[in-house]
Amino acid sequence: MKCLVTGAAGFIGSHLCERLIAEGHQVVGLDAFVPYYPRPIKERNLEALRSQARFTFRLCDLRRDPLDDLVRDVEVVFHLAAMPGLAQSWTDFDGYWTCNVLATQRLLEAVRKAERLQRFIHVSTSSVYGKYASGDESLPLKPISPYGVTKLAAEHLCRSHAEAFGLPLVVLRYFSVYGPRQRPDMAYHRFIRSLLRNEPLVVYGDGFQVRGNTYVADCVEATVAAMKAIPGETFNIGGEETATVWDIIRKLETLAGRQALIRQEPARPGDQRYTFADTSHLRRHLGWQPRTSLDEGLARQFQWQKAELDTGHFSQREAA
Ligand SMILES: NC(=O)c1ccc[n+]([C@@H]2O[C@H](COP(=O)([O-])OP(=O)(O)OC[C@H]3O[C@@H](n4cnc5c(N)ncnc54)[C@H](O)[C@@H]3O)[C@@H](O)[C@H]2O)c1
Repeated sequence: MKCLVTGAAGFIGSHLCERLIAEGHQVVGLDAFVPYYPRPIKERNLEALRSQARFTFRLCDLRRDPLDDLVRDVEVVFHLAAMPGLAQSWTDFDGYWTCNVLATQRLLEAVRKAERLQRFIHVSTSSVYGKYASGDESLPLKPISPYGVTKLAAEHLCRSHAEAFGLPLVVLRYFSVYGPRQRPDMAYHRFIRSLLRNEPLVVYGDGFQVRGNTYVADCVEATVAAMKAIPGETFNIGGEETATVWDIIRKLETLAGRQALIRQEPARPGDQRYTFADTSHLRRHLGWQPRTSLDEGLARQFQWQKAELDTGHFSQREAA
């Protein structure tokens, strides 16, 4: 299949491209290197892909660059490009509205002319549910951050194109993804970085927020499986285990062999309190199930971050 992956230089997009290549697909990966976090980190995410004959990278900003040629003969679109994370969405609304809503609309307009398109897989988030995101896909949609609102708006745009123009749409709602290459702003990445450097680690709120965690390889496997999903379906994608922030810190302390220096700060507006995906729909339709335990997944992320730090990659790139 000829696949287009938007957000290919990102955390999950780069893993997805690698998996698609390994399965024999032809992949065009598109990214604009938006400066939400430093470009050198994203360039490193792409390193293994650059040498693959079946992978082509296109530097392209979905907000403004021409898209028709990119999508003309594409068979599957995986739309991951977005401004992620909720904290900055209170202060950079323009970035979130343009990258999450306007960019999605431009991509949807372009794929109307893609005659060979078989699936448009739109990546959304548990944030569309709001403060308590625990349950199946029928939970009320009540986002509590501009990030969640823009991601929900993008879902609605996709559905309107499916209704009006027959877009073969599948919507995936990811729940807290972690593992190697996790974004540097995400909690587990920050915790591990602080532990490795023996620096204070910031916990927002009371630390009893609960997350259903999804290991990145399991998330990617579900995303690839969605190529066979019936158009019109929406699926939650989440792992089997929940943990509070304190549970995670204890596990990471064991991996690091040292106690964390903890600094507590007030809860951030828009933070979710409890997230845990009911994935029965995904399991029933696509036979998917998560394979990586939380302990195993955290150990892999820890080892990856340690290796990046030991080889000087993070310190150089963070300075960029
Ligand atoms: N990481 C998670 O836990 C998580 C959870 C729920 C949903 N998601 C969703 O998964 C997707 C990927 O998230 P991620 O964590 O890999 O984020 P990421 O920031 O690592 O990757 C997103 C990529 O999209 C690119 N991008 C953004 N705007 C663009 C534009 N206008 N044109 C071209 N490229 C653009 C960025 O440069 C970045 O490389 C996002 O849609 C996000 O909302 C992620």
